[in-house]
Order: sequence, then C-alpha cells, then structure tokens
Amino acid sequence: LEQWLGRDVVSILDFTRGELLDLFDAASMLEEALGRGEALRLLEGHIVALAFFEPSTRTRLSFEAAAKRLGAETIGFAAAEATSIVKGENLADTIRMLDAYSDLIVMRHRYEGAALYASEVAEKPVINAGDGRQHHPTQAMLDLYTVTKLYGSVDGLVYGVLGDLRYGRAATSFLLGLTRFRPRRVYLIAPPLLRPRDEVYSVLRGSGLPVVEAASLEEVLPELDVLYVTRIQRERFPDPREYEKVRGSYRVTLDILERHAKPELRVLHPLPRVDEIDHRVDGTRYQAYFLQARLGVPLRAALLAKLLGAL
Ligand code: NCD
Repeated sequence: LEQWLGRDVVSILDFTRGELLDLFDAASMLEEALGRGEALRLLEGHIVALAFFEPSTRTRLSFEAAAKRLGAETIGFAAAEATSIVKGENLADTIRMLDAYSDLIVMRHRYEGAALYASEVAEKPVINAGDGRQHHPTQAMLDLYTVTKLYGSVDGLVYGVLGDLRYGRAATSFLLGLTRFRPRRVYLIAPPLLRPRDEVYSVLRGSGLPVVEAASLEEVLPELDVLYVTRIQRERFPDPREYEKVRGSYRVTLDILERHAKPELRVLHPLPRVDEIDHRVDGTRYQAYFLQARLGVPLRAALLAKLLGAL
C-alpha cells in the first residue's frame, strides 16, 4: 500500500516490472468484479479532477468511467478553452485550484513536461494523461496489460512498433514500458523522418532492449506476435511540409496480414486511427485494439485505487 499511496505518474519509467505486474493483478481483479456487475465503493467520497487541455476521447472517458465505477465523483474540463486560461490565468494557478478541489489530478497538456511541473505544484497525486510528444504512461500500462491478457506475459514475444515513433507519445511510452520486460525482439518500423528521437533511442539501447530497425512491415511481419500501430501525429509537426512527406506512408491492410502474418498475430493501436489500419481488419482474429480500449477502464480504476490508498 505504502508503495503506491500518493504517488505521481509522470513516466512509465517511474515503475518497476514488479509494480506493473502488481497493477495488472489489481486490474484483473477489478475487471472480474466489474464484469459481474458488482458495485464497488472503493473510492466513495473521493473527487478525481480530469484536466484535459488537449483533445481526448478514450483516455478522459475511461478515467471518468473508472472513477465512477469505483464510486468516486469527477470534476474537470475537456478543453483549455473552457477554463480561465483564456483569461490569461497561468498553468500553475489552474493546477493549485485543481489541487484544492480534488484528491487526485489527471492531466493532459500539449507541453512536454507539463505533468511533471503539475506534480511539483500540486500536493495531490498527478497522473500524466499525455504531455506533448513525450509521455503517456497509463496508455503504456493498459497496452502492456492487454498483451498480458492476450499472451499470458509480456516476455518472450516479438513486437513490431509501426508508425510515428518520433512524435507519438503512446508508441514512445509503449517502447519505454517494454524495457521493464524481456521481449524476444522489438522491431521499430518507421519512415526515416519518424524514427525515435535520440533521447528515446538511447534509453532503449541503454536498457538492453533487443531493438532492431526494420525497413518494411512485410519483411518482419511473419515473425511478429504483436503489431503496435500508431497514427501519424500531424498536430505535432513543426512544419506542415514535413507532414506531407510522410502522410499515408504506411497502411495495415487485411491483405498484407493474410499474406505475411502468423494466425496468432494481434494488432494493437492506442486509437484514434485515421487510415493506418484498414477497417476490414476489424472483424478478424488479428484485431485487438477494441479490447485494448476497453481494458483502459479496469487498468485506470486499479491505478486510481492504488494511488488513493484503496487497494
Ligand atoms: C493517443 C494520444 O493521445 O497520445 N491517444 C490515446 O490516448 N489513446 C494516441 C494518438 O493521439 O494518436
């Protein structure tokens, strides 16, 4: 209990393998209880603040559902335009108010380091729900939890991470999360302009993660157990012409999967997708991204309960 109570969640690297496995056990227990329709009042009397300065569908709503399933109340906003930030209030003052009105703050912001900064200003625990292109730790937690449910373990598998590894915080956090486990191999499949940033690359290499750069999806697909696909993060490109060079540069079609993938391959995607996965994949055995999105609720419920000392 001590270990989790009141902690901030800024990066997936803040957590050990043992802590992540402990979290997955708690998520699994809650998933079963909630699946049986049990009313869990673990967080009764608590208020969770959802401070989303950037757009979100799954992350915000699954945090809200998770809090409410455990009997907590939520307050918050879903766009910076809805706050006094538009009147010129600074981020620190906004955070002080959230800190005063709630027991835990979930925050998404387009600035890198915003969550770390909030964790320094606030006394209550802060969960980073995405800070610019940098971190999205709870996404990585639910991604790794999904792999655990599908395969029984994160270890020993061959992964392909496809897409925008440069600006994508979900892909980055997933890769950083894999360093806490023992995958057999991790293929990075990205157009040259979207390769991981040096600072991410050096953490991956330094951790001994068996990363290999792949020239094409087709070439590595036969080996993969998990294909993690991501959207090109158009809104984070400093120059729209750079985006034009890479738009539509990869697409996972049913045809490619049927020709090259093992039947056991599972495709993950943090969503939203634009055009990088053909909708014809949705109804097939390969598709695991809707399960992944659903598992956001028990995983985030477990995290809230642990940080608030209820599990
Ligand atoms: C991701 C994000 O916001 O980083 N979405 C999510 O939280 N599931 C991925 C994305 O926007 O592409």
